Amino acid sequence: MTVVAIDGPAGSGKSTLARSLAEHLGVERLDTGAMYRAVAWSALDRGMDLTNSEGLAAMASELDIGVGELVTVDGRDVTDAIRTPSVDLAVSPVAANPKVREELVRRQRAWVAGRTGAVVEGRDICTVVLPDADLKIYLTADTSVRATRRSSERQGRQSVKEVEEQLRVRDRIDSTRAASPLLSVTEMPHGAIVIDSTGKSAASVLKEVLKCL
Ligand code: CDP
Repeated sequence: MTVVAIDGPAGSGKSTLARSLAEHLGVERLDTGAMYRAVAWSALDRGMDLTNSEGLAAMASELDIGVGELVTVDGRDVTDAIRTPSVDLAVSPVAANPKVREELVRRQRAWVAGRTGAVVEGRDICTVVLPDADLKIYLTADTSVRATRRSSERQGRQSVKEVEEQLRVRDRIDSTRAASPLLSVTEMPHGAIVIDSTGKSAASVLKEVLKCL
């Protein structure tokens, strides 16, 4: 049984690494960011006030969220809908809600417990969700590189400059919130491997990780 935890800031390449690593190990991947995005999408869809923390938490606890190749909310396919600029803006404030986190962390741990191995990516996986993971990775890259990658994933619908501004805002909220913040490279728990993917191909990052297993 191999459990790998991957944390890192927005657009650092966690999903690309998680996908290839999961395939290599023959295990499933859990994108916990997609779960927070699904909650943020639902709040926007219902026109909810994002500062209503009790209301958000109550909604999150009732949502049926499916995260596999497709992301679903109560059976509705939201795979593309959760990756829009409006969800990008809403997700960090929603993820700062401790009760929303409590509910999603509970589901994430249950998901892993029901499997014989997994690759799990997010912001608090190495520190809170799976501190006993077999391998803990902190993946990062220069902000401008992360913005360029994200803009091209979005097929240029958002300029690099626009994406870079959004990433900075999201990273700031994610790193400064009280509940399970994204740590900096120097704060990572003992034993975590730090990889800076700036200037590296996805294949070379995977190779670096495989050497640690
Ligand atoms: O793919 P990207 O790096 O843009 O972000 P994501 O993994 O889809 O996560 C979206 C947002 O969810 C993050 O900016 C965090 O606010 C939140 N998140 C979190 O708080 N904890 C996690 N374990 C995963 C995501």
